[in-house]
Amino acid sequence: MRKNRLNYVWLIVIMITLFNSCRKDTGPLVIPGPVTQPVSFSNDIQPIFNSACISCHNATHPSLQLDSCCSYYELLFVGNNAPYVDTMNPAESRLIKRMTGEIGPTMPLTGALPQDQIDLVLRWIEEGARNN
Ligand code: HEC
Repeated sequence: MRKNRLNYVWLIVIMITLFNSCRKDTGPLVIPGPVTQPVSFSNDIQPIFNSACISCHNATHPSLQLDSCCSYYELLFVGNNAPYVDTMNPAESRLIKRMTGEIGPTMPLTGALPQDQIDLVLRWIEEGARNN
């Protein structure tokens, strides 16, 4: 009789423990991973041109203007060798090849930008080279 009661006590202790451990798991399901926001031409790409390119690629440049007024249309339609982006083969884009130095001289002329900035431009092209 005494032993039986002791068993009940244990059973209750175990059930409370299990119940509580389940309750700790409630809450929103957070799946960690990279942020998959699309690249924005105006917020991510133009600032790169502003800091590294427009000292030369402004209205005085003979083939390609990269100021915020015109960079998108220059790259896709108006620049001397437009389009500079190839959404079917992003890595083949003239813009990328000039930034990696695959077609020389490397842009900017002072030396290639950090790889993460080149990758950002590449991703923008992979995502469709949108004017976003
Ligand atoms: C110090 C001046 C200078 C800077 C800074 C510079 N460029 Fe250039 N870029 C030139 C000159 C000059 C040419 C034309 C001669 C040539 O093709 O090499 C050129 C050509 C290019 C071309 C080829 C144009 C065509 O019609 O084929 C691309 C693309 C280009 N630059 C992209 C860039 C990008 C992107 C940046 C910034 C990351 C940049 N450049 C920074 C001077 C510069």
